[in-house]
Amino acid sequence: MARVSDRPSGVDLRVRVGTLHLKNPIIAASGTFGYGVEFSHLVNLNRLGGIVVKGLSAQPMAGAPSPRMHETPGGMVNAIGLQNIGARAFVAEKLPTLRRYDTAVVANIFGQSIREYVEVIRILEDAEGLAAYELNISCPNVEHGGAEFGTDPVVTSQVVSSARKASKRPLWVKLAPLVGNIALTAKASASEGADAVVIANTYPALCLESHDRRSRLGSTKVGLSGAAIKPITMRLVYEASQVIQIPIVGLGGIQSATDVAEYIISGASAVEVGTAHFLDPRASVKLVDDLEAWCLEDKTNEISMLRGSLKA
Ligand SMILES: Cc1cc2nc3c(=O)[nH]c(=O)nc-3n(C[C@H](O)[C@H](O)[C@H](O)COP(=O)(O)O)c2cc1C
Repeated sequence: MARVSDRPSGVDLRVRVGTLHLKNPIIAASGTFGYGVEFSHLVNLNRLGGIVVKGLSAQPMAGAPSPRMHETPGGMVNAIGLQNIGARAFVAEKLPTLRRYDTAVVANIFGQSIREYVEVIRILEDAEGLAAYELNISCPNVEHGGAEFGTDPVVTSQVVSSARKASKRPLWVKLAPLVGNIALTAKASASEGADAVVIANTYPALCLESHDRRSRLGSTKVGLSGAAIKPITMRLVYEASQVIQIPIVGLGGIQSATDVAEYIISGASAVEVGTAHFLDPRASVKLVDDLEAWCLEDKTNEISMLRGSLKA
């Protein structure tokens, strides 16, 4: 039976990420949209497919010294240092307002050990109004000698397996982009019960000031995001889509509806929008209208039909 669109244009933007139904594939990316509520005076949050909140840890974190962001050709670097109010304060202060909106709220979580990841899930698990968890496995991992959870597939398996056991909610795993073979961490996530993988986080980078011989940011460990990373990350989405069956959420450098369509054609079920919010806080909401216009022009009636349609 043909699906009936909920939009006057007749274009059906609804997508599914595993068991989660989204009204459209546009999701605000973690760390670029606060806890959502801060944007509510600028943006109609109900229009977004979803919102991923700033990464949450068990305890509040002060983050890295400033400066924390710097514009680069085709993008930006950041070293925020995962500053956040902590999972308990999020539940008490932000979630009650955020859950009133008709959009999927996804909690991005991280820890410095597997135990800490599980602790964050325990704090959030009974809270009402969360649609899924997004496990950020690209942060420093002290338990494993400075390696990252997202670069060693064995460690990826361990953290995903523990998070899976701790939670009844859909579990998305946000992969690190700078790995030899994305298939390994994508497959490790899928086989430990992840509902989706999110591809990907920022690229480890260095941005310095030559006369000072110093990093332009308060830390030498910075992450590159924005338009510059789009083609590389889209390649990772495509490669992962060839080897895993679970849905992929694509993100990296999305600025236009064409970018969204390209990610979906490469194999993504939905996308997240990050750095574009620093140019325009309404970027993701505008993309919903622009994507509808793109579909009309392309004569695509259902956005989900585009998924994985790249011709070999
Ligand atoms: C300022 C800033 C803060 C971020 N904070 C987080 C975070 O807390 N957790 C996370 O998983 N990703 C974080 N990210 C990564 C983004 O969610 C996204 O993966 C990355 O920026 C690539 O997408 P983009 O090119 O559209 O920005 C952050 C990115 C930026 C620019």
